[in-house]
Amino acid sequence: MARMTAVVNRKGGVGKSTVTVNVAATTAEVLGPTPEGKDDNVVAISSDPQGSSSWWSERVGDDLPFSFAQVKQAQDLHVLDQIKKSRSIKHAFIDTPGWMDLPEEERQSAGDPFGTGSAAEAMRHVLATADDLIIPMFPEGLSYIPTQETMNEVVLPLGLPYLVVINNWDPRDGVADLQEAQEFARANGWKLANTVIRRYKVHTRAALEGTVVTRYKKNRVAMEAREDFYKLAVEIGAGGKGRR
Ligand SMILES: Nc1ncnc2c1ncn2[C@@H]1O[C@H](COP(=O)(O)OP(=O)(O)OP(=O)(O)O)[C@@H](O)[C@H]1O
Ligand SMILES: [Mg+2]
Repeated sequence: MARMTAVVNRKGGVGKSTVTVNVAATTAEVLGPTPEGKDDNVVAISSDPQGSSSWWSERVGDDLPFSFAQVKQAQDLHVLDQIKKSRSIKHAFIDTPGWMDLPEEERQSAGDPFGTGSAAEAMRHVLATADDLIIPMFPEGLSYIPTQETMNEVVLPLGLPYLVVINNWDPRDGVADLQEAQEFARANGWKLANTVIRRYKVHTRAALEGTVVTRYKKNRVAMEAREDFYKLAVEIGAGGKGRR
């Protein structure tokens, strides 16, 4: 059975898609191809029924060491179960939409963090399939409250293993913002990843250019940028179920 790791935060733009494809890429590069020579030890799944415009798979085609799957509508949801039951796939990383930004009718309704509609249905299904979660957050004030809501309303009630990961920290800004975000996470009692994903321009352009960290040019900055995702992969014990 594949291990299913969902990348979740209802706040938009905190790096869910960036983390998904890059942890998938680093994990896939370490595992290498299957004995049959196929690149499907690892799958990156987009579960955004709104059809978020700039998802990697539409830009890069087949030129990556992992495969892609898309869940665009309710009828596709069974794909998640198929992947979970697959014997060949070791680890799937599931990107989710920042549903706080969804239309009102798709959002929170009485006591239900997801409300109704196709995106809500997809989120429920993703979380029912997930073995564990990654919650990226930016080290900036605007990220705190939506992350706290995501944790309290979605992540903690599930009782699944999770890690909050600070993403997009710019070392040139000094450690104050980073330490404040770490303090915030600790004060809330969250499990915080030791790995911090730094801010690099190469990441910002990656989605547009349809590439992932393992394909970055071989220079020092690119290697530093890549290192963060290898670290995160090690920290979550990526590569399948037996490795946790
Ligand atoms: N570590 C980083 N360094 C530089 N840019 C980053 C980093 N992480 C994310 N970004 C950039 O921030 C923007 C938002 O990232 P991304 O699309 O991964 O977030 P998201 O949570 O998937 O957003 P959405 O909720 O809209 O799907 C993108 O332009 C991305 O390239
Ligand atoms: Mg996204």
